[in-house]
Amino acid sequence: MIIHLADPADPRVSDYTSLTDVQLRRTREPAEGMYIAESSRVLRRALEAGHRPRSFFMAEKWLAELTDVIDAHPDVPVFVGTARLLEDITGFHLHRGAMAAMHRPAPVDLPALLAGARRVAVLEDIVDHTNIGAIFRSAAALGVDAVLVSPRCGDPLYRRSIRVSMGTVFQVPWARLTAWPEDMSLLRSAGFTTAALALKPDSLTIRQLAARNDGKLALILGTEGDGLGAETVAEADHAVMIPMHAGVDSLNVAAASAVAFFATQPPHGTHG
Ligand SMILES: C[S@@+](CC[C@H](N)C(=O)[O-])C[C@H]1O[C@@H](n2cnc3c(N)ncnc32)[C@H](O)[C@@H]1O
Repeated sequence: MIIHLADPADPRVSDYTSLTDVQLRRTREPAEGMYIAESSRVLRRALEAGHRPRSFFMAEKWLAELTDVIDAHPDVPVFVGTARLLEDITGFHLHRGAMAAMHRPAPVDLPALLAGARRVAVLEDIVDHTNIGAIFRSAAALGVDAVLVSPRCGDPLYRRSIRVSMGTVFQVPWARLTAWPEDMSLLRSAGFTTAALALKPDSLTIRQLAARNDGKLALILGTEGDGLGAETVAEADHAVMIPMHAGVDSLNVAAASAVAFFATQPPHGTHG
């Protein structure tokens, strides 16, 4: 169903307005049960993951490349316009071509997720969508079974997180916690040992943690500025650090996640 746009104020494309306003979009999209898949590659990965489109949005020249997708969704509107008109709506030039407004998948069942997981990452209040995306990419690559995000954490389905994650946010199961650090009790009752990645004088090293073979493991990562809250560190079973050289005071949180995920891979896993 192709619809040629003539007016940037067309209410049918309100899903695509003010895309550059991060603060607005990160609250609006979850509240409206949608997210934006940007670029035809991301859009295809979202569809492969079983997510449903609300509409497609592109310059005319992208129609041919997406014919199969459009034909497979005959009831979904395809909004088409000039590059200038699309830019007036979104607030930026669409150099990645097509976009889709997608229905947000239903929240996962947290107890079931925790019951089936061996290792999870918990992101406490991480607001940088680049870091969130990079952590998901590492989680997927290094065999972390699920990612849990604190109530104040950024949105894994924000378009920048999706892009940086290379679409792995569609692959790694994730859930938003409703209270943190209170929900650490859910992890504990599901059998997880909780490890706060924190630079404390008495922290275990990541190798010492891995050598303990604690079984189900939750790796908790903190904010870019202040790191983990004192209450989180106090409540976790262990504080854990990645030793550093050259007087560097900390790693970027996404880099720290990759090291921690790699170092704590299960000994009998498939990752050698
Ligand atoms: C940029 S750091 C925050 C630094 C903060 N000033 C602190 O002292 O925790 C962001 C997060 O990455 C993780 N992190 C960074 N470097 C780490 C290291 N060497 N060992 C353990 N965790 C680290 C921690 O979870 C931290 O909360």
